[in-house]
Amino acid sequence: MATDDRLDEGERLSIGDLRALQLDRLRATLRLAYDKVPHYRRAFDAAGVTPDDLHALEDLRRFPFTTKADLRDNYPFGMFAVPREKLARIHASSGTTGKPTVVGYTADDIAMWAQVMARSIRASGGRPGMMVHIAYGYGLFTGGLGAHYGAEALGCAVVPMSGGMTERQVQLIEDFRPDIIMVTPSYMLALLDEFRRQGKDPRGTSLRIGIFGAEPWTEAMRAQIEDAFGIQAVDIYGLSEVIGPGVANECVETKDGPHIWEDHFFPEVVDPNTGAPVPEGEPGELVFTSLTKQAMPIIRYRTRDLTRLMPGTARPAFRRMQKITGRSDDMIILRGVNLFPSQVEEQILRVPDLAPHYQLILTRDGPLDAMTIAVEAEPGTLPEERERAAKTLAHYVKAIIGVTAAIEVRDAGAIERSLGKAKRVVDRRPR
Ligand code: DLL
Repeated sequence: MATDDRLDEGERLSIGDLRALQLDRLRATLRLAYDKVPHYRRAFDAAGVTPDDLHALEDLRRFPFTTKADLRDNYPFGMFAVPREKLARIHASSGTTGKPTVVGYTADDIAMWAQVMARSIRASGGRPGMMVHIAYGYGLFTGGLGAHYGAEALGCAVVPMSGGMTERQVQLIEDFRPDIIMVTPSYMLALLDEFRRQGKDPRGTSLRIGIFGAEPWTEAMRAQIEDAFGIQAVDIYGLSEVIGPGVANECVETKDGPHIWEDHFFPEVVDPNTGAPVPEGEPGELVFTSLTKQAMPIIRYRTRDLTRLMPGTARPAFRRMQKITGRSDDMIILRGVNLFPSQVEEQILRVPDLAPHYQLILTRDGPLDAMTIAVEAEPGTLPEERERAAKTLAHYVKAIIGVTAAIEVRDAGAIERSLGKAKRVVDRRPR
């Protein structure tokens, strides 16, 4: 391993060296946050801690969490640790309500981000000289530009396609013959439909690797995409508040959950209700502290993403996160049963006549909540096949997830397609 030239310096660290590096970097980050960001100074003071109280990595738990509300309260630039002249880039993620969450980068931050993205693409099987079709959105969203700088840093040729113009995407994939595509898994399915609509064979393209993320997707979805396109489908994870895409990425040789690039992002998992750290390996909410960011150091950020940490495999020094099954925000409580859209996705993909385009519609039925699963039929299915598929899905959902749901099988194309992240839950319950 130590001489493997496909690994960068950070990936070759031993666990011992990594922990020492993390401690150094954590100290510097806490100091930067405390000295330069009034919000952190107030929050640390209120919790009765200073950066000098960090003697070991475990001491991080004494420091306060940061939430999306903190970022919103300091809109737009209040969380930045550098003067405006030092900024090289701004991104923002649109929340469901109100103001967007704004994040900032220095030139060094952009270089670090490009490096972890290059590492992610390489872990996915990408190599210098390959061509990368980027269909993540360009703009304030971190997906497009994050992927772009990483692919360039690795030495790839970039097709900066962005999202949308689905017909054109298919045309350019055919004509330019890229090796890699980077896109949300739900938009990859929209591309699949378009290949079929144009009568083109999706397995016949030049694509070998897909790097999919920005939204939850199941193992069943992975199998479906790999089979439909004849590619390796690899999971990439990240969030704007921490950097963007490239916080963690799967290795193509194992595809066993994203390895967290721990030399730059320090993970913890906590109980989402109490905030107490869970024992290593137990599920809970993922929390990140940046270790090298300059413009916007982030301390113990509550991601609301639910997962658990596992030992590294293909990159032994870095821990892995289990593929995200859902966000605490997306959890649906239906007559006492907690469920995530991904659990329904798994069941939909077991039914051959159903397509993986779906939405969960929540309504109130008297005092109780009700859920309708709107899902598309595969093109060309007959009415009796749809009826049978609906019954089968209702049965699976009841038997495996434990809830009763109405099933609405719609025509192919009837569920709204998104160009980026799919909208899985439509909440029609009265407020
Ligand atoms: O979605 C960054 C990104 C772009 C990641 C492209 C991967 C690829 P945000 O818009 O800030 O940033 O949304 C972050 O998306 O907290 C998760 O809930 C979700 N998410 C991101 N990657 C995954 C993934 C980008 N691989 C939020 N699996 C995160 C499941 C994911 N959910």
